Amino acid sequence: MHIAMIGTGYVGLVSGACFADFGHHVTCIDKDAGKIAKIKAGVMPIWEPGLESLVKANIERGRLAFTTNLAEGIGDAEAVFIAVGTPARRGDGHADLTFVYEAVRELAKALTRPVVVVTKSTVPVGTGDRIAEILKEEDAPEGCSVASNPEFLREGAAIRDFKIPDRIVVGAEDQRAREVLTEIYRPLFLNQAPILFTGRRTAELTKYAANAFLAMKISFINEIANLCEAVGADVQEVARGIGLDNRIGPKFLHAGPGYGGSCFPKDTLALLKTAEDAGVEQRIISTVVSVNDDRKAAMADRVAVAVGGSLEGKRIGVLGLTFKPNTDDMRDAPSIPLIKRLLEGGAEVAAFDPVGREQAEPLLSGITFTDDAYSAANGADALVIVTEWDEFRALDLVRIAEGMRGTALVDLRNVYDRTEAERAGLVHYGVGRGRNGVNSI
Ligand SMILES: NC(=O)c1ccc[n+]([C@@H]2O[C@H](COP(=O)([O-])OP(=O)(O)OC[C@H]3O[C@@H](n4cnc5c(N)ncnc54)[C@H](O)[C@@H]3O)[C@@H](O)[C@H]2O)c1
Repeated sequence: MHIAMIGTGYVGLVSGACFADFGHHVTCIDKDAGKIAKIKAGVMPIWEPGLESLVKANIERGRLAFTTNLAEGIGDAEAVFIAVGTPARRGDGHADLTFVYEAVRELAKALTRPVVVVTKSTVPVGTGDRIAEILKEEDAPEGCSVASNPEFLREGAAIRDFKIPDRIVVGAEDQRAREVLTEIYRPLFLNQAPILFTGRRTAELTKYAANAFLAMKISFINEIANLCEAVGADVQEVARGIGLDNRIGPKFLHAGPGYGGSCFPKDTLALLKTAEDAGVEQRIISTVVSVNDDRKAAMADRVAVAVGGSLEGKRIGVLGLTFKPNTDDMRDAPSIPLIKRLLEGGAEVAAFDPVGREQAEPLLSGITFTDDAYSAANGADALVIVTEWDEFRALDLVRIAEGMRGTALVDLRNVYDRTEAERAGLVHYGVGRGRNGVNSI
């Protein structure tokens, strides 16, 4: 099967490389010439474990190509995936579909025969209908189908998630679209991956409902963490105690600085906008969003408490900037509001992230970027763990403590516990660790 992928970002590049690895012929298209040039030169534009070798192997086998030219890229494709960004629209939180509609218009003009247009981008209910209208408006060849195939991969584990998905959701309104997508995903259901065929609108909504539910689990455990701190309970143990119940499940129950990233913040907002337009209340998700906003805003206060109440003139070391480990993605990362508030409070900040520096630098001015964790801790009154990269799990805490001016280890991911920190002469400020007594905030 020949496939074209419009948009070669986190989702387009991973999906394109994985489809090629299944044996399909894939051309990835992006209007960002710098990105395409980089990939052709063997340099990945994003940091994703295993991606470089997967892309390289499939280029060598002649199954994966890259171009900036859409007309050339769609070539003999039977299916054209749209994987462009759908960020939150500035000002109102609606999903901004400008990139999607631009790509569809361009595609419609370039097509010389009917294809199945598949939306992989996360798009609000009804976008597929609008895409079908645009194809007509732009005189695309008769017989094109429009399907929705939302993507559920996680950055940091994207290739594994794509190749061993919990499920594949295909929203299609005609037999041809279902057949083409069945053929594309055949290697996965040979491996028993469940495939769900639904209507197009249902598939579109399923993606938002999934992200909103996961965001809700995070906001839920963060509020329980606050309660743990107040009543002397330990959120880690509460999370384990509830997560072992199969009806609840253990994932997304880690208390921390609030969810960030390129999906949950914008997708929860977009879901609320869809509901508003439909005149249907979504009180739970609305609360999830405000719990998370408050959570992110409150993290700097925790650091202030740990250094005696005022941030003025304090030096703060920050470990981890990306919104989660194993990605360089900084979109809506909790580190951004935290660091801004630390600076506003009069603190100096030295930060280290294993791979996020290039993306973080334009977003965080007025701080020092260091080359390792120990340099970030050097001379600090408090060291704050914001992202739980594996390399922060086995730090030499004695060496950290020796380099610091103060003793506060503000551990927003509960990587360490009180005893380990105390052994090194540090005071541990975890999240929701009320059982640890006075040191929790
Ligand atoms: N990042 C994730 O973890 C993730 C997971 C699941 C779903 N999604 C969804 O997938 C979509 C893409 O997300 P992403 O993180 O890959 O975005 P991204 O910003 O990393 O990549 C989008 C790419 O599309 C390109 N592009 C935009 N308009 C174009 C056009 N007309 N022609 C060619 N290229 C064009 C951009 O240059 C960019 O490289 C979004 O809707 C997102 O919500 C993302």
